[in-house]
Amino acid sequence: MKVCVFGASGYAGSSVYDLLRKDSDIDVTGTYLEEPAAFDDLYKLDVNEPESFSAFYKEQQPDVVVWSVMSGPYEDELVHEGLRHVITHLTPQTKLVYLSTDFVFTEGSGPYYEDHPTSGLPEDHPLSTYTNAKVKAERFISRELLNYTILRAGPIYGENKIGQLDERTDKLLAQLRLRNTAAYRDDLIRTFVHVNDLAGSAVEFVKNDLTGIYHAGPDKRHSFYEFMTQMAEQLGYSADSVEKASEYEEPDKEIPKNTALKTEKIRNAIKQKFR
Ligand SMILES: NC(=O)c1ccc[n+]([C@@H]2O[C@H](COP(=O)([O-])OP(=O)(O)OC[C@H]3O[C@@H](n4cnc5c(N)ncnc54)[C@H](OP(=O)(O)O)[C@@H]3O)[C@@H](O)[C@H]2O)c1
Repeated sequence: MKVCVFGASGYAGSSVYDLLRKDSDIDVTGTYLEEPAAFDDLYKLDVNEPESFSAFYKEQQPDVVVWSVMSGPYEDELVHEGLRHVITHLTPQTKLVYLSTDFVFTEGSGPYYEDHPTSGLPEDHPLSTYTNAKVKAERFISRELLNYTILRAGPIYGENKIGQLDERTDKLLAQLRLRNTAAYRDDLIRTFVHVNDLAGSAVEFVKNDLTGIYHAGPDKRHSFYEFMTQMAEQLGYSADSVEKASEYEEPDKEIPKNTALKTEKIRNAIKQKFR
């Protein structure tokens, strides 16, 4: 089976790529954009560039494509250009495994099931480009394709297969080293998912015939305060080094406080366990 991972040099994509390259049933290729690449054998490719994308794709002809690309403020371009290039090149037999986010839920309150309606943010919200692009991407995929899995995740954490930590934990560590204290809100609830559990589940969807939308992660939900307290303890700091920030800051009124995900569907469908 031939698999192509777009974003194979990124935080989650590196773990997906590493698991796939160690699987003898799989012939994997991956792409990166900015130097240095996480692996020596990745192809440099801007998915937004139509000619180079087309040449690369025609040479590879994958059976499965994994989308682990993210570009924050330019996420919109990634949907209108990069994702459109992918979708126009896929044959009906080619499966797309698309990594998405709990940010697609901006109405109601979590925990959300897979079929809960998605919605965007007002244009002037600082996160609107990313959120609205992800909502558009999911709608585009489900309208145009049959052979796809959308794998939604809340905050992704932990050390990936090439030894990188998520930015949030990195920042926590820096703050604890500098000031011995950090503060997080206790009223914002999420389903945190370990990067290697997410990668393992993406690999299962590469290899199985399941399609549709799945929420990745454990049954447990945590506030940022609870979760980051656990992280601090794992890093060797005392639980007291993390404080509650909710009393001092205004909540973001456009984003539900609880965007946790219902994860029964995935846990009943695949072997991957979520820590
Ligand atoms: N991180 C989270 O907490 C989180 C939560 C929920 C969902 N997700 C989703 O998970 C996926 C992976 O996220 P991540 O955290 O691993 O992101 P990341 O570390 O920023 O990786 C994204 C990768 O996309 C590549 N990229 C950006 N623009 C590109 C372009 N025009 N052409 C080709 N490649 C391009 C970058 O390549 P280079 O590094 O080589 O420049 C980067 O490695 C994304 O789809 C994201 O929406 C992430």
